[in-house]
Amino acid sequence: MIFEHLEASLAAARRLFALIDTRPAVQDPPGPPPQPANYHLEVKGLRFRYAPEEPWVLDGIDFTLPEGGRVAIVGPSGAGKSTLVNLLLRFWDYEEGSIRLGGYELKAYPQEELRRLIAVVSQQTHLFHATIAENLLLARPGASREEIRQAAREARLEEFIQSLPGGYETCIGEEGLKLSGGQRQRLAIARALLKNAPILILDEATSGLDTVTEGEVRQAVYRLMAGRTTLIITHRLAGLEAMDEILVLDKGRIVQRGRHDELLRQEGLYRRMWELQHEVLELDS
Ligand SMILES: Nc1ncnc2c1ncn2[C@@H]1O[C@H](COP(=O)(O)OP(=O)(O)OP(=O)(O)O)[C@@H](O)[C@H]1O
Ligand SMILES: [Mg+2]
Repeated sequence: MIFEHLEASLAAARRLFALIDTRPAVQDPPGPPPQPANYHLEVKGLRFRYAPEEPWVLDGIDFTLPEGGRVAIVGPSGAGKSTLVNLLLRFWDYEEGSIRLGGYELKAYPQEELRRLIAVVSQQTHLFHATIAENLLLARPGASREEIRQAAREARLEEFIQSLPGGYETCIGEEGLKLSGGQRQRLAIARALLKNAPILILDEATSGLDTVTEGEVRQAVYRLMAGRTTLIITHRLAGLEAMDEILVLDKGRIVQRGRHDELLRQEGLYRRMWELQHEVLELDS
């Protein structure tokens, strides 16, 4: 029996080691991480595709997100919005053009350092099968109890947590308590608050929610955005009046850019998207 197990274990081990030895798509640079004096994000002539024979998913992207600024990227499904986020976090490396953070090319930063500087709230929030406190601590392992509670309070999550029998020690995630969409998003926001990174990316952070929940989560999002450099990605054109610049992305290219009222005055994709969404809303009510 032992020999039978040995065979199976060896085969499994071979597969595991093959996986471990795989060269990752993105390599860390040698040497210490750069020490940027600010967190300006500058994207120039950026082009990217997922495989050499495929069409460009991003084709000539230029924009600047100054420290403390707010830029929104909008566009239809498949435009390349999440791809841009993947590049900013260096899950993939870009082929042409440059992305500079604080004056240094993104490739000069170790991936871990980059992910320390950028907090992301995306549409899907992964919850681990662990307690609420542990799920929050992932964002900053050294955080104190009071800091965790502060983040939960600001994300409007504390009341819910206190209503649970185990409070912060309640097990959630895969086999634990299931959280609703709004609760998950608020947890993601609490994580981002706790992480306190200088740059914040919101990728469709509220779009999977119903209107009432979305309104509540949006309040938490505004609190999170206060004083932070923010890149918002969304296909819902609401609340964009406060953006310094809106980029309209379509099939990997920026087809329009400007502030909300400027874009509404122009003939173009932005106005068409706006009109379409307002028609839908009228039909709903
Ligand atoms: N891992 C991947 N491998 C290959 N192609 C991909 C991958 N991820 C996305 N794509 C392709 O890249 C294009 C842009 O996808 P992306 O997810 O960036 O769009 P999006 O603007 O975020 O859309 P949505 O609004 O639906 O989230 C699509 O054509 C998609 O099929
Ligand atoms: Mg997307």
